[in-house]
Amino acid sequence: MSDPRILLLGAPGAGKGTQADRLTDAFDIEHITTGDALRANKDMETEYGTPREFMEAGELVPDPVVNEIVEAAIEEADGFLLDGYPRNESQVGYLEDITDLDVVAYLEVSESELIDRLTGRRVCSDCGRSYHVKYDQPEETGVCEECGGELYQRDDDTEETARERITVYEENTTPVVEHFRETGNLVEIDGEQAPESVFKELKAAVDERTHA
Ligand code: AP5
Ligand code: MG
Ligand code: ZN
Repeated sequence: MSDPRILLLGAPGAGKGTQADRLTDAFDIEHITTGDALRANKDMETEYGTPREFMEAGELVPDPVVNEIVEAAIEEADGFLLDGYPRNESQVGYLEDITDLDVVAYLEVSESELIDRLTGRRVCSDCGRSYHVKYDQPEETGVCEECGGELYQRDDDTEETARERITVYEENTTPVVEHFRETGNLVEIDGEQAPESVFKELKAAVDERTHA
């Protein structure tokens, strides 16, 4: 059995990154995430402008830019966990032309909980691990437990931009969830449970679908 190819869907703040860290460790697969790739290249000049302009407004970065990132990463990976892509129907078409998927899972979380999670999130500037000022505090305030890195707040985690991201998600990405629901086999998980419980359900779904 080759390594699993997993797609994780969910609104901003649903816990995709949090679960991706656990799943990529558990299955020893690559984490492919357009959000992190774009944050690492915020000021890259493209014919559409820089990613920063779109990201700080909570809008989607143009499809050709993200399609290229994903295609290159998938080509290099055996198994992978894809997080943050596809975000609209055109990206779905692109993805389905370049790879098959073994598991598509969707984390469902209410809007009020999403805002609370996004505005309270703090991220390690070195290893990228996420914390939360109420739900997941490091032992020492502002310092990553894993690597000692400094924690910061993402530019797009202000309440105003978080609300815009959720609106953009509802308009563009809800049809993506619907697409996978219709084509079958969408694993729907209650993302409001504790991270450990969400992980158990995800891991069981992957084990079941890959006969591990
Ligand atoms: P991206 O980085 O993908 O952001 P996002 O989709 O908005 O998702 P987040 O990373 O905010 O949420 P998450 O689900 O990973 O939550 P996390 O686990 O951290 O994209 C950013 C921007 O890049 C976009 O706006 C766009 O401009 C651009 N972009 C990216 N991909 C693109 C694409 N394909 N096309 C076009 N543009 C693209 O958790 C959040 C918080 O909650 C944390 O603090 C965590 O500690 C806490 N938490 C997690 N799980 C739980 C739990 N179970 N209980 C309590 N708290 C929890
Ligand atoms: Mg994320
Ligand atoms: Zn760290």
